[in-house]
Amino acid sequence: MGFKVLFFFAILFFSAVCAFAEDNSGLVMDYYKDTCPQAEDIIREQVKLLYKRHKNTAFSWLRNIFHDCFVESCDASLLLDSTRRMLSEKETDRSFGMRNFRYIETIKEAVERECPGVVSCADILVLSGRDGIVALGGPYVSLKTGRRDGRKSRADILEQHLPDHNESMSVVLERFANVGINTPGVVALLGAHSVGRTHCMKLVHRLYPEVDPQLNPDHVPHMLKKCPDPIPDPKAVQYVRNDRGTPMKLDNNYYRNILENKGLMLVDHQLAMDKRTKPYVKKMAKSQDYFFKEFARAITILTENNPLTGTKGEIRKQCNLANKLH
Ligand code: HEM
Ligand SMILES: *[C@@H]1O[C@H](CO)[C@@H](O)[C@H](O)[C@H]1NC(C)=O
Repeated sequence: MGFKVLFFFAILFFSAVCAFAEDNSGLVMDYYKDTCPQAEDIIREQVKLLYKRHKNTAFSWLRNIFHDCFVESCDASLLLDSTRRMLSEKETDRSFGMRNFRYIETIKEAVERECPGVVSCADILVLSGRDGIVALGGPYVSLKTGRRDGRKSRADILEQHLPDHNESMSVVLERFANVGINTPGVVALLGAHSVGRTHCMKLVHRLYPEVDPQLNPDHVPHMLKKCPDPIPDPKAVQYVRNDRGTPMKLDNNYYRNILENKGLMLVDHQLAMDKRTKPYVKKMAKSQDYFFKEFARAITILTENNPLTGTKGEIRKQCNLANKLH
């Protein structure tokens, strides 16, 4: 009898330990396996269809992960529109140039047709980012799900989290450390700047009144041609591609560029100069495998940052609007 009771408690103890180890973020692999088994396939299919029509959607899905998850929580707060009471995160200066938000709704609608009210926008944001990485030739990262959606914009605290284009490497490293991402992780994530574009708005300070002597002189004429005005018209779509060599590929060409002083933003340039980050930049420039391994590891940590789970938050009906409370 005594043995049986002891045995019972031992089992109870072990299952509690296992449950805890399995999911300290509250997230699990394949969270929708019973409630919406097709969810991940539908998202993957939609990401592929959208990518065929607009290649730059994949850049957006990747950037969304950073801008949502890095600001306190992966809760899709990024996607909320402004309301009378609060400014959206999308409309802040740090989000300048972000695009394709309406196509997140296309993905959400496809998921809703199959399983209404089940899959969160936060999970759609993260999984579309994961599939976008694959579309760009990057690694496949298996990621947990079970995130729920926040109800409010975090625009008011966004600048305390998201670094600016000209932030010092010390601040960048400190902010990433706050979410558990170490130096090689930061170096790998900045490799996202191997795709997409940067608007002249964020670059003219390196060109005017005089050209930053640290810029590679071979790269300067191209930048001046793309950004001919010291004060760019905010409405004119003037930009430079982040990686002229392979602009559509998530690859380690970024690291070779920044080592050659062809990094566009000051943070990109600093990454190759700072003695804390430079050794990893060199290593990733040499090995795409090493870059992908660190990138996958860091994306996993980033996407597990402080999610809303259990009864917190909600499952939004539409990704740009919080549900009405009754
Ligand atoms: C120190 C950290 C970072 C800073 C300061 C930064 C800043 C910026 C800026 C200013 C742009 C140009 C936007 C424009 O003019 O349109 C940009 C583009 C981009 N960023 Fe970052 N970023 C950082 C980290 C990241 C991370 C961690 C990711 C993803 C994991 C990321 C993904 C992207 C992508 C994909 C683009 C291109 C977007 C497009 O072409 O639509 N960035 N970033
Ligand atoms: C960074 O650039 C912004 C303009 O985009 C400017 O307002 C700010 O003062 C700059 N910060 C530093 C540290 O140079």
